[in-house]
Order: sequence, then structure tokens, then C-alpha cells
Amino acid sequence: MTAVLGIETSCDETAAAVVEDGRRVRSSVVSSQVDLHARFGGVVPEIASRAHLEVVNEVVAQALVEAGTDLDRLDAVAACHGPGLAGALLVGVSAAKALALAKGLPYVQVNHLEAHLYAAFLEEPEVELPLAVLIASGGHTMVVAVEAPGRYRVLGGTVDDAAGEAFDKVARFLGLGYPGGPAIDQVALDGDPAAVVFPRPMMDQGHDFSFSGLKTAVVTHVRDHPDLAVADVAASFQEAVVDVLVAKLVAAAAEAEARTLVVAGGVAANTRLRTRLLDAAERCGRKALLPGRELCTDNGATIAAAAWWRLRQDGPTPLDAGVAPNLRLPSGG
Ligand code: KG4
Ligand code: ZN
Repeated sequence: MTAVLGIETSCDETAAAVVEDGRRVRSSVVSSQVDLHARFGGVVPEIASRAHLEVVNEVVAQALVEAGTDLDRLDAVAACHGPGLAGALLVGVSAAKALALAKGLPYVQVNHLEAHLYAAFLEEPEVELPLAVLIASGGHTMVVAVEAPGRYRVLGGTVDDAAGEAFDKVARFLGLGYPGGPAIDQVALDGDPAAVVFPRPMMDQGHDFSFSGLKTAVVTHVRDHPDLAVADVAASFQEAVVDVLVAKLVAAAAEAEARTLVVAGGVAANTRLRTRLLDAAERCGRKALLPGRELCTDNGATIAAAAWWRLRQDGPTPLDAGVAPNLRLPSGG
């Protein structure tokens, strides 16, 4: 049995978790800063770093207590080193290195995007492979074919805004507040998704995404039709995003001959997306795996799970390794 502590501080969640053998979550603690950033309408990097610094030790301590373990019984300490905000990443990476050095444990750096893929293995350890995974968050939107843990191929990504970013920007324009995804999800429940037919960008153009034109289309349409109900606009916008996300994931699954469709990232919490994915999976004869919200959004458990596989594959990371704010997800394996 191997126990890994995973630390995540890439954006606005300070998180730590203990995971056994890359599959069993013993504890997962997340301290969200969303309230600190809400009045600015987005994440303020300086505030994020400072807030991580204030709570990281407490969050790690709580993760150890909840797992019923302590530093002396860990086998490795991992942290997300990118992509993300440089100052924020430094807090988690420094904390992990300090613990590793003090206890003589291996340190493992983890790519945030790779970690998102592991939500599938934590939710369902026996998940049927290969997987087609959609990662849709505030910073990223991509489809990845996963043949096994550590063996994956990036099929496509966004050429401009991420899906969550589009939700946030449209919500701000509609006066629905921050973060915009949950607000639009809620308001759209009372709206007509067919009220306005917004564009479905790059729908039939390979595996890449584009959302900035859709956001502009919403702004232009609302300015031209000021009497439209906000709920109808929200529902119609959401339907356009969901149509694209579902179609691209289904196409990725066909290309990868995937048995299972998976979603991860904050947007994976979207009610309409989840419903539509279940339908789509049934129609294309595949399974849908929708990990719980706590595994979809940023957390330490997926970091620890990814670290367990990385440690076996690549060994420990040298302690002089830094952070990588612009890290991408390379096709690996
Ligand atoms: O994965 P996440 O928690 O943090 C990042 O790594 O970005 O994702 C946050 C993003 C935000 O853009 C937020 O608006 C969006 O996920 N989001 C949603 C929902 N919940 C969160 N988007 C649509 N529907 C939701 N229910
Ligand atoms: Zn994320």
C-alpha cells in the first residue's frame, strides 16, 4: 500500500488529499477562495497567492487527520506545478517540497491537466477503457483519449476562450455574478433553450473548440433585442455550449474507439451537460462516467492519484524543479 499526499494551489482552491495506491481517496480537503474574488468578477492573482499561503498548512494538516494518518506514514508528497498562476503554484510546490525534504520522502510534480483525467479512475477504479475525456474548466477545454493511466493522446483543445470562461463572461454581461457557470445553470432552468439559436462554433471542424465568437454573438443579440428574458438567453447560450461539448466528446470517442465518455473540470458540474451526455452515450452505445462534482473541480485527490502513476513511471522529481505556469498537456505514455 502506498499513500500519497497531493497538494493543489494552481488557481483559487487550496486543496490537499491523501490517496492510496492511486485509486482510494482517504481524505480530500478543499478550501475555496471564491468569496474573496467574487467582488472583482474573477480571480485576482495577488489575492490568490496570499490566501493560499494563509491556509495551506491547515488544509494539509486537516487532510492528514481526516485520512487517519501522519507525515511519517506517507510514501510521497506531490504538488501541482502547472499550468496555473505562478505565485499560487509556488505556494503548493514549496509546501510539498518542504514536507518531502523534512521527512526524506520523494517529491512528485504533477501536471494539473493530467490530474483532471484521473477523476475517472477515482470515481470508478474498474472503468472500462479506453476513455474519451472532456476537460472543461475556467482555463481549459480539451478532449483527450485515455488508453490507460499515464497513456493518453490529446485530440483537440480550444483555440481561444475556455468553456467556463465563456460561461463567466456571458454571466457577467447578463448581470448574473461570479462564478458564472453555476449562475447560468440555475437561471437556465426557467428558460427556453430554443428561444435564440446561437452559433455552434467549429461544430464540424475537427476536435478543436472556439467560444469567443459565441460570447460576442450573445452580446450583440441582447443589445439588438433588449426585451429578451435573461432566462431564455442563458438557456439558449448554454444549449449552444453543451451542443458543442457533447458533439466533440462523441466524435473523440468514435476516433479513440472509447468504451466510456468522461467529463472533468468545473463545467462538468453543469446540469444540462450531464443530462445530455447520458443521452448521447446511450445513443452511441457507450457508457457515460460523470464523476462527482468534488472530483471534477480542482482538488488534491486527482493530484495524488496522478502522482502515484508518475512516481512509478518516471520516479521522483528533483527538489530544484520549479513551477510551470504555461505547462501544456503533452500526449504521453
Ligand atoms: O475546474 P474549475 O473549478 O477551476 C478551473 O480550473 O478553472 O472550473 C471553474 C469553471 C468556472 O468557469 C465556472 O463558471 C465553471 O467552471 N462552472 C460551471 C458550473 N460550475 C462551475 N459551468 C457551467 N455550469 C456549472 N454548473
Ligand atoms: Zn482545473
